[in-house]
Amino acid sequence: MNFADIEHEIKDFYERLWSDPGKIGRSGQGLFLGWHYGFYEKGIKNLSEAMINMIDYIDRLLELNDKMVMNILDVGSGVGSTLMHLAKKHPNCLFDGITLANNELKIAEFLKKENSIENIRFKQGSYMNSGFSDNYFDRIFALESAIYAPNKKDFLKEMYGLLKPNGKLVIIDTFTKKYILNPLTVNINNYLHQRKCTKGNLANYYVGIDDFITYLKSVKFKEINVNDIVDSGNVKKYHIYGFLIYRLFPYLSSRLGQIREKRNSLKYEFLYPFAFFSFFVYRALLIFGSKPRYYSITAIKK
Ligand SMILES: C[S@@+](CC[C@H](N)C(=O)[O-])C[C@H]1O[C@@H](n2cnc3c(N)ncnc32)[C@H](O)[C@@H]1O
Repeated sequence: MNFADIEHEIKDFYERLWSDPGKIGRSGQGLFLGWHYGFYEKGIKNLSEAMINMIDYIDRLLELNDKMVMNILDVGSGVGSTLMHLAKKHPNCLFDGITLANNELKIAEFLKKENSIENIRFKQGSYMNSGFSDNYFDRIFALESAIYAPNKKDFLKEMYGLLKPNGKLVIIDTFTKKYILNPLTVNINNYLHQRKCTKGNLANYYVGIDDFITYLKSVKFKEINVNDIVDSGNVKKYHIYGFLIYRLFPYLSSRLGQIREKRNSLKYEFLYPFAFFSFFVYRALLIFGSKPRYYSITAIKK
């Protein structure tokens, strides 16, 4: 799959996801709060609160200075809720959001109008070719969107170019942790997911957190800070693994369909349960063996 096809597939997924927001249901999630795992701290009772708390966490990481005009970019801004909250809190700052799907953009524009917010501009497009000027932004953040970049180093180069000197990058996303089965499991998992999954599944690209830090350094980012927010208990482990299990099932069900179609031509029916079980274990091993973790990362352009 080339880069344009991958982007097209991701765009297609988000167009459909937000085509009828009324149907979107994640336990406890308020409509239009966005599409991320949230940040659980003491006193946070449900996903909606955790999602708003994630925005406050990003706000702290961004370290915005309200006494001066700052330019902030959200890459992969989705339906714009993160920017909406930040823009209300920081009326002096100017916010830009870029996201792939037109349906996300429609909702973002609707919410912006409803809330009479002036200091955000949204646009549809790819963060890999955003059209913004180099050295323009004081801050850039990516909330669960960097994972879609097939080449993380190129993604970081883009972000580095857009930031002003001393500008700060904030990334919140899933990366894999150093583990004995890595990088084999990550590579096989990514390969299977991108090549074999039925259309409409998310084309995620996992990389190890250590590799990602190496890329940050090679792009010349400095003062790199990494926080594993699963291990610190601020993200629910079952959200991370729940999503990965979701990745397992569409693939499995399509495989089962194919097996059923071939049923008459297969002689060894007694092997089906065994084959199914082995396949399940094999996929589970690849997925869980990749040790996915959820991190917040900050880095400065020097
Ligand atoms: C999991 S959602 C997160 C959305 C938003 N940050 C939030 O927290 O609600 C991932 C987002 O990344 C966006 N995305 C993925 N690849 C992108 C790309 N190449 N350029 C711009 N946006 C992209 C998708 O359109 C989607 O909105």
